[in-house]
Amino acid sequence: MITLGIEGTAHTLGVGIVDSEKKVLSNVLDMYKPPEGGLHPREAANHHADVVADIITRSCNEAGVSLHEVDLISFSMGPGLGPCLRVAATAARSLSCRLDVPILGVNHCIAHIEIGNATTGCHDPCLLYASGGNTQIIAYSDKRYRIFGETQDVGIGNMLDKLGRDLGLGFYAGPVFEKLAKEGDKLLELPYSVKGMDISFSGIMTAALALKKRGCSLEDIAFSIQETAFGMLAEVTERAMAHVGKDEVLLGGGVAQNMRLKEMIKVMAEERGAKMFCPDRRFCMDNGAMIAWLGNIMYNSGVRMDIEDTLIRQRFRTDDVEVTWRD
Ligand code: ATP
Ligand code: FE2
Repeated sequence: MITLGIEGTAHTLGVGIVDSEKKVLSNVLDMYKPPEGGLHPREAANHHADVVADIITRSCNEAGVSLHEVDLISFSMGPGLGPCLRVAATAARSLSCRLDVPILGVNHCIAHIEIGNATTGCHDPCLLYASGGNTQIIAYSDKRYRIFGETQDVGIGNMLDKLGRDLGLGFYAGPVFEKLAKEGDKLLELPYSVKGMDISFSGIMTAALALKKRGCSLEDIAFSIQETAFGMLAEVTERAMAHVGKDEVLLGGGVAQNMRLKEMIKVMAEERGAKMFCPDRRFCMDNGAMIAWLGNIMYNSGVRMDIEDTLIRQRFRTDDVEVTWRD
Protein backbone atom coordinates (compact mmCIF):
# COMPACT_ATOMS: atom_id res chain seq x y z
CA MET A 1 0.00 0.00 0.00
CA ILE A 2 1.33 3.43 -0.97
CA THR A 3 0.47 6.38 1.30
CA LEU A 4 1.06 10.03 0.51
CA GLY A 5 1.17 12.30 3.58
CA ILE A 6 0.94 16.08 3.69
CA GLU A 7 2.38 18.04 6.64
CA GLY A 8 1.42 21.67 7.17
CA THR A 9 1.02 22.53 10.86
CA ALA A 10 3.32 25.56 10.94
CA HIS A 11 6.28 26.80 8.88
CA THR A 12 6.90 23.64 6.87
CA LEU A 13 4.93 22.23 3.97
CA GLY A 14 6.10 18.67 3.44
CA VAL A 15 4.96 15.74 1.33
CA GLY A 16 6.20 12.22 1.99
CA ILE A 17 5.41 8.86 0.44
CA VAL A 18 5.78 5.54 2.28
CA ASP A 19 4.93 1.92 1.62
CA SER A 20 3.66 -0.62 4.12
CA GLU A 21 7.13 -2.04 4.72
CA LYS A 22 8.21 1.07 6.68
CA LYS A 23 10.10 2.20 3.60
CA VAL A 24 10.20 5.96 3.07
CA LEU A 25 10.11 6.43 -0.71
CA SER A 26 10.33 10.21 -0.60
CA ASN A 27 10.23 13.10 1.84
CA VAL A 28 10.25 16.53 0.21
CA LEU A 29 9.69 19.76 2.12
CA ASP A 30 9.83 23.50 1.85
CA MET A 31 10.13 25.65 4.96
CA TYR A 32 8.72 29.17 5.05
CA LYS A 33 11.19 31.69 6.48
CA PRO A 34 9.66 35.09 7.21
CA PRO A 35 11.67 37.98 5.72
CA GLU A 36 11.69 39.59 9.17
CA GLY A 37 10.03 39.16 12.56
CA GLY A 38 8.11 36.09 13.64
CA LEU A 39 5.99 33.63 11.75
CA HIS A 40 2.71 35.14 10.55
CA PRO A 41 0.20 32.28 10.12
CA ARG A 42 -1.49 33.81 7.08
CA GLU A 43 1.82 34.45 5.29
CA ALA A 44 3.04 30.94 6.05
CA ALA A 45 -0.28 29.59 4.70
CA ASN A 46 0.12 31.63 1.50
CA HIS A 47 3.58 30.12 1.09
CA HIS A 48 2.16 26.61 1.57
CA ALA A 49 -0.58 27.25 -1.00
CA ASP A 50 2.04 28.49 -3.49
CA VAL A 51 4.32 25.45 -3.13
CA VAL A 52 2.03 22.52 -2.30
CA ALA A 53 1.32 21.38 -5.88
CA ASP A 54 4.99 21.49 -6.77
CA ILE A 55 6.03 19.63 -3.60
CA ILE A 56 3.47 16.89 -4.34
CA THR A 57 4.90 16.48 -7.85
CA ARG A 58 8.49 16.48 -6.61
CA SER A 59 7.67 13.93 -3.92
CA CYS A 60 6.05 11.60 -6.48
CA ASN A 61 9.03 12.00 -8.83
CA GLU A 62 11.52 11.28 -6.06
CA ALA A 63 9.56 8.18 -5.04
CA GLY A 64 9.15 7.03 -8.63
CA VAL A 65 5.42 6.75 -7.95
CA SER A 66 2.63 8.19 -10.08
CA LEU A 67 -0.30 9.80 -8.28
CA HIS A 68 -2.55 7.04 -9.62
CA GLU A 69 -0.54 4.45 -7.68
CA VAL A 70 -1.31 6.17 -4.35
CA ASP A 71 -3.75 4.15 -2.20
CA LEU A 72 -4.24 6.52 0.74
CA ILE A 73 -3.89 10.24 1.47
CA SER A 74 -3.11 11.42 4.99
CA PHE A 75 -2.56 14.92 6.32
CA SER A 76 -1.70 16.69 9.57
CA MET A 77 -5.06 17.60 11.08
CA GLY A 78 -3.55 19.39 14.09
CA PRO A 79 -2.33 20.75 16.41
CA GLY A 80 -1.07 23.82 14.61
CA LEU A 81 -1.86 27.17 13.04
CA GLY A 82 -5.34 27.33 11.50
CA PRO A 83 -4.50 28.90 8.12
CA CYS A 84 -1.57 26.51 7.56
CA LEU A 85 -3.58 23.44 8.58
CA ARG A 86 -6.33 24.45 6.17
CA VAL A 87 -3.96 24.47 3.19
CA ALA A 88 -2.71 20.94 3.93
CA ALA A 89 -6.27 19.71 4.56
CA THR A 90 -7.61 21.26 1.35
CA ALA A 91 -4.80 19.76 -0.73
CA ALA A 92 -5.41 16.35 0.88
CA ARG A 93 -9.17 16.49 0.31
CA SER A 94 -8.82 17.45 -3.33
CA LEU A 95 -6.29 14.67 -3.97
CA SER A 96 -8.49 12.14 -2.21
CA CYS A 97 -11.55 13.17 -4.28
CA ARG A 98 -9.69 13.34 -7.55
CA LEU A 99 -7.91 10.01 -7.13
CA ASP A 100 -10.91 8.43 -5.42
CA VAL A 101 -8.83 7.05 -2.55
CA PRO A 102 -9.46 7.18 1.22
CA ILE A 103 -8.30 10.10 3.37
CA LEU A 104 -7.16 10.21 7.02
CA GLY A 105 -6.41 13.28 9.15
CA VAL A 106 -3.73 12.45 11.72
CA ASN A 107 -2.27 13.95 14.89
CA HIS A 108 1.06 15.64 14.23
CA CYS A 109 2.58 14.84 17.65
CA ILE A 110 1.75 11.14 17.34
CA ALA A 111 3.32 11.17 13.88
CA HIS A 112 6.62 12.25 15.51
CA ILE A 113 6.38 9.26 17.88
CA GLU A 114 5.50 6.68 15.26
CA ILE A 115 8.17 7.71 12.74
CA GLY A 116 10.63 7.46 15.65
CA ASN A 117 9.39 3.96 16.52
CA ALA A 118 9.52 2.90 12.86
CA THR A 119 12.96 4.25 11.99
CA THR A 120 14.99 3.80 15.19
CA GLY A 121 13.86 0.34 16.24
CA CYS A 122 12.61 1.28 19.69
CA HIS A 123 9.45 -0.43 20.92
CA ASP A 124 7.84 1.29 23.86
CA PRO A 125 9.62 4.54 24.62
CA CYS A 126 8.97 7.60 26.66
CA LEU A 127 9.04 10.39 24.06
CA LEU A 128 10.60 13.75 24.72
CA TYR A 129 8.96 15.85 22.04
CA ALA A 130 10.78 19.18 21.88
CA SER A 131 9.87 21.34 18.91
CA GLY A 132 8.95 24.91 18.13
CA GLY A 133 5.35 24.91 19.28
CA ASN A 134 5.33 21.80 21.46
CA THR A 135 7.22 20.49 24.45
CA GLN A 136 5.75 17.33 25.92
CA ILE A 137 6.82 14.12 27.62
CA ILE A 138 4.62 11.37 26.25
CA ALA A 139 4.29 7.64 26.88
CA TYR A 140 1.88 4.93 25.81
CA SER A 141 -0.46 3.51 28.36
CA ASP A 142 -3.81 1.75 27.96
CA LYS A 143 -4.76 2.72 24.39
CA ARG A 144 -3.56 6.32 24.51
CA TYR A 145 -0.36 8.24 24.16
CA ARG A 146 -0.54 10.10 27.46
CA ILE A 147 1.11 13.37 28.28
CA PHE A 148 3.06 13.06 31.51
CA GLY A 149 4.50 16.55 31.50
CA GLU A 150 4.45 19.59 29.24
CA THR A 151 5.27 23.24 28.98
CA GLN A 152 2.85 25.57 30.69
CA ASP A 153 3.68 28.44 28.37
CA VAL A 154 5.70 28.40 25.14
CA GLY A 155 7.36 25.46 23.40
CA ILE A 156 11.13 25.38 23.88
CA GLY A 157 11.87 26.09 20.19
CA ASN A 158 9.56 29.11 20.14
CA MET A 159 11.31 30.39 23.27
CA LEU A 160 14.69 30.09 21.52
CA ASP A 161 13.36 31.65 18.30
CA LYS A 162 11.68 34.58 20.05
CA LEU A 163 14.69 35.24 22.24
CA GLY A 164 16.96 34.98 19.21
CA ARG A 165 14.87 37.59 17.45
CA ASP A 166 15.02 39.94 20.43
CA LEU A 167 18.78 39.46 20.61
CA GLY A 168 19.19 40.13 16.89
CA LEU A 169 20.15 36.56 15.95
CA GLY A 170 17.45 36.19 13.26
CA PHE A 171 14.65 33.66 12.90
CA TYR A 172 15.11 29.96 13.60
CA ALA A 173 17.61 30.68 16.32
CA GLY A 174 17.90 27.19 17.87
CA PRO A 175 20.93 26.19 15.77
CA VAL A 176 22.51 29.64 16.35
CA PHE A 177 22.23 29.20 20.12
CA GLU A 178 23.76 25.74 19.82
CA LYS A 179 26.78 27.16 18.00
CA LEU A 180 27.19 30.09 20.42
CA ALA A 181 26.87 27.79 23.44
CA LYS A 182 29.95 25.84 22.36
CA GLU A 183 32.03 28.98 22.98
CA GLY A 184 30.44 29.78 26.36
CA ASP A 185 31.50 28.31 29.70
CA LYS A 186 30.06 30.48 32.46
CA LEU A 187 26.81 29.21 33.98
CA LEU A 188 24.70 32.32 34.55
CA GLU A 189 21.67 32.16 36.81
CA LEU A 190 18.37 31.60 34.96
CA PRO A 191 15.02 30.45 36.38
CA TYR A 192 14.93 26.66 36.60
CA SER A 193 11.20 26.21 36.39
CA VAL A 194 9.91 22.69 37.01
CA LYS A 195 6.45 22.52 38.58
CA GLY A 196 5.54 18.93 39.34
CA MET A 197 5.83 17.28 35.95
CA ASP A 198 5.36 20.52 34.02
CA ILE A 199 7.89 23.11 32.98
CA SER A 200 7.87 26.70 31.82
CA PHE A 201 10.28 28.68 29.70
CA SER A 202 9.06 32.26 29.63
CA GLY A 203 11.05 33.18 32.77
CA ILE A 204 14.26 32.13 31.01
CA MET A 205 13.41 34.41 28.10
CA THR A 206 12.94 37.48 30.32
CA ALA A 207 16.00 36.72 32.45
CA ALA A 208 18.23 36.13 29.42
CA LEU A 209 17.32 39.52 27.97
CA ALA A 210 18.15 41.15 31.31
CA LEU A 211 21.55 39.39 31.35
CA LYS A 212 22.31 40.77 27.89
CA LYS A 213 21.46 44.28 29.07
CA ARG A 214 23.90 43.78 31.97
CA GLY A 215 26.65 43.06 29.45
CA CYS A 216 26.94 39.25 29.65
CA SER A 217 28.25 37.63 26.48
CA LEU A 218 25.89 35.94 24.03
CA GLU A 219 28.05 32.81 24.26
CA ASP A 220 27.61 32.53 28.04
CA ILE A 221 23.91 33.30 27.76
CA ALA A 222 23.45 30.60 25.10
CA PHE A 223 25.45 28.11 27.19
CA SER A 224 23.39 28.89 30.30
CA ILE A 225 20.07 28.65 28.46
CA GLN A 226 20.95 25.21 27.11
CA GLU A 227 22.21 23.89 30.44
CA THR A 228 19.15 25.20 32.31
CA ALA A 229 16.36 24.47 29.83
CA PHE A 230 17.70 21.06 28.76
CA GLY A 231 18.36 20.19 32.42
CA MET A 232 14.66 20.83 33.11
CA LEU A 233 13.68 18.56 30.21
CA ALA A 234 16.04 15.80 31.38
CA GLU A 235 14.65 15.94 34.92
CA VAL A 236 11.01 15.63 33.89
CA THR A 237 11.76 12.96 31.28
CA GLU A 238 13.62 10.89 33.87
CA ARG A 239 10.75 11.15 36.32
CA ALA A 240 8.25 10.10 33.65
CA MET A 241 10.41 7.09 32.75
CA ALA A 242 10.64 6.05 36.39
CA HIS A 243 6.89 6.49 36.87
CA VAL A 244 5.81 4.42 33.88
CA GLY A 245 8.71 1.99 34.12
CA LYS A 246 10.02 2.43 30.56
CA ASP A 247 13.62 1.72 29.65
CA GLU A 248 13.66 3.51 26.31
CA VAL A 249 13.61 7.24 25.61
CA LEU A 250 12.92 8.62 22.16
CA LEU A 251 13.67 12.16 21.04
CA GLY A 252 11.52 14.02 18.56
CA GLY A 253 10.86 17.54 17.26
CA GLY A 254 13.24 20.10 15.76
CA VAL A 255 15.05 20.87 19.03
CA ALA A 256 16.02 17.19 19.30
CA GLN A 257 18.64 17.91 16.65
CA ASN A 258 20.64 19.73 19.33
CA MET A 259 23.75 17.72 20.25
CA ARG A 260 23.89 18.99 23.83
CA LEU A 261 20.28 17.97 24.48
CA LYS A 262 21.01 14.53 23.01
CA GLU A 263 24.09 14.18 25.19
CA MET A 264 22.22 15.10 28.39
CA ILE A 265 19.36 12.70 27.68
CA LYS A 266 21.79 9.93 26.73
CA VAL A 267 23.70 10.27 30.00
CA MET A 268 20.46 10.35 32.00
CA ALA A 269 19.22 7.22 30.18
CA GLU A 270 22.45 5.29 30.59
CA GLU A 271 22.65 6.11 34.28
CA ARG A 272 19.32 4.37 34.77
CA GLY A 273 20.12 1.43 32.50
CA ALA A 274 17.91 2.73 29.70
CA LYS A 275 18.59 3.47 26.05
CA MET A 276 18.16 6.65 24.04
CA PHE A 277 16.93 6.71 20.45
CA CYS A 278 16.91 9.68 18.12
CA PRO A 279 15.53 9.62 14.58
CA ASP A 280 17.50 10.91 11.66
CA ARG A 281 17.46 14.70 11.29
CA ARG A 282 15.02 14.48 8.33
CA PHE A 283 12.45 12.81 10.60
CA CYS A 284 13.05 14.99 13.67
CA MET A 285 11.88 18.13 11.95
CA ASP A 286 8.34 18.54 10.62
CA ASN A 287 8.01 16.36 7.51
CA GLY A 288 5.48 14.60 5.30
CA ALA A 289 6.91 11.08 5.65
CA MET A 290 5.87 10.88 9.31
CA ILE A 291 2.33 11.93 8.39
CA ALA A 292 2.21 9.28 5.64
CA TRP A 293 3.57 6.61 7.98
CA LEU A 294 1.00 7.33 10.72
CA GLY A 295 -1.78 7.36 8.10
CA ASN A 296 -0.58 3.98 6.90
CA ILE A 297 -0.60 2.30 10.31
CA MET A 298 -3.91 3.86 11.34
CA TYR A 299 -5.56 2.71 8.11
CA ASN A 300 -4.19 -0.81 8.54
CA SER A 301 -5.64 -0.91 12.06
CA GLY A 302 -9.09 -0.17 10.64
CA VAL A 303 -9.45 3.60 11.10
CA ARG A 304 -11.61 5.24 8.41
CA MET A 305 -12.77 8.83 7.87
CA ASP A 306 -15.28 10.50 5.60
CA ILE A 307 -14.41 13.84 4.07
CA GLU A 308 -16.86 15.41 6.59
CA ASP A 309 -14.65 14.11 9.43
CA THR A 310 -11.55 15.87 8.15
CA LEU A 311 -12.05 19.28 9.76
CA ILE A 312 -8.79 20.66 11.13
CA ARG A 313 -8.21 20.72 14.91
CA GLN A 314 -5.91 23.54 15.98
CA ARG A 315 -5.74 22.28 19.57
CA PHE A 316 -5.71 18.57 18.77
CA ARG A 317 -4.28 16.89 21.90
CA THR A 318 -2.03 13.86 21.77
CA ASP A 319 -4.24 12.03 24.26
CA ASP A 320 -7.44 12.70 22.26
CA VAL A 321 -6.58 9.86 19.89
CA GLU A 322 -7.51 6.26 20.64
CA VAL A 323 -4.50 4.18 19.68
CA THR A 324 -5.98 1.30 17.71
CA TRP A 325 -2.72 0.06 16.19
CA ARG A 326 -0.92 -1.18 19.30
CA ASP A 327 -1.60 -4.03 21.73
P1 ATP B 1 5.82 21.76 15.91
O1 ATP B 1 4.81 22.11 14.85
O2 ATP B 1 6.07 20.30 15.98
O3 ATP B 1 5.55 22.35 17.21
P2 ATP B 1 7.76 23.35 14.55
O4 ATP B 1 6.77 23.56 13.48
O5 ATP B 1 8.24 24.56 15.19
O6 ATP B 1 7.23 22.33 15.53
P3 ATP B 1 10.15 21.68 14.10
O7 ATP B 1 10.74 21.54 12.73
O8 ATP B 1 9.80 20.43 14.82
O9 ATP B 1 8.95 22.61 13.84
O10 ATP B 1 11.16 22.48 15.04
C1 ATP B 1 11.63 23.75 14.76
C2 ATP B 1 12.29 24.32 16.00
O11 ATP B 1 13.50 23.59 16.28
C3 ATP B 1 12.68 25.77 15.85
O12 ATP B 1 12.20 26.45 16.98
C4 ATP B 1 14.21 25.75 15.81
O13 ATP B 1 14.80 26.90 16.36
C5 ATP B 1 14.51 24.51 16.64
N1 ATP B 1 15.81 23.91 16.33
C6 ATP B 1 16.25 23.41 15.17
N2 ATP B 1 17.53 22.99 15.26
C7 ATP B 1 17.92 23.22 16.54
C8 ATP B 1 19.13 23.01 17.28
N3 ATP B 1 20.20 22.50 16.71
N4 ATP B 1 19.14 23.36 18.58
C9 ATP B 1 18.05 23.90 19.17
N5 ATP B 1 16.90 24.12 18.54
C10 ATP B 1 16.83 23.79 17.24
FE1 FE2 C 1 6.54 18.96 14.83
